[in-house]
Amino acid sequence: MYKIAIFASGGGSNAESIAKHFEDSGLASVSLILSNKKEAGVLDRADRLGIPSVVCIKSEFQNESHLLRILKQYDIDFIVLAGFLLLIPEYLIRAYPNKIVNIHPALLPKYGGKGMYGINIHKAVVQNKEKETGLTIHFVNERYDEGTIIAQKSCSIEPSDSAEEVATKVLQMEHKYYPETIENLLRKGL
Ligand code: GRF
Repeated sequence: MYKIAIFASGGGSNAESIAKHFEDSGLASVSLILSNKKEAGVLDRADRLGIPSVVCIKSEFQNESHLLRILKQYDIDFIVLAGFLLLIPEYLIRAYPNKIVNIHPALLPKYGGKGMYGINIHKAVVQNKEKETGLTIHFVNERYDEGTIIAQKSCSIEPSDSAEEVATKVLQMEHKYYPETIENLLRKGL
């Protein structure tokens, strides 16, 4: 059984969909939820789901021995970023080579990088009158939104769609495709 840690800074709807997907799967389980924000909604979800959680503020997150000790304590094999806002330090990428994935709510390489998070992404997409958008799941390297792409899914945008409507559409797709893509990766073997 693979043990997954999910890192999240916000509400955690993706974290919940992944945790539920793997419940009773026999393949993997979400063994830890880590957040850099003590008020993040994902921590309440972790409690509700009965998943251990831990808060690491930025300085703790950047402390190699501190973080690796936590991941070892929970025997973590695979790391999933789901709305996690801190940059992943090099030591963690070295410790988990090709074992850290992220989801980005746009079709990378468009709408990635600095400032491109949350509703900003969808506002930019709507402002530019894009006809489609979607999601990208990729391996994580030491730069935001630049690792090798694993999967992308697109959806169309109606001219009348607001940024909020586009965000809702993409988030629904994330809840379906993120767990499925993680499952496919794990089935191939780490
Ligand atoms: C998602 O849109 C994800 O693509 C992005 O941050 C959002 C997190 O949403 N990286 P949630 O916290 O999983 O609800």
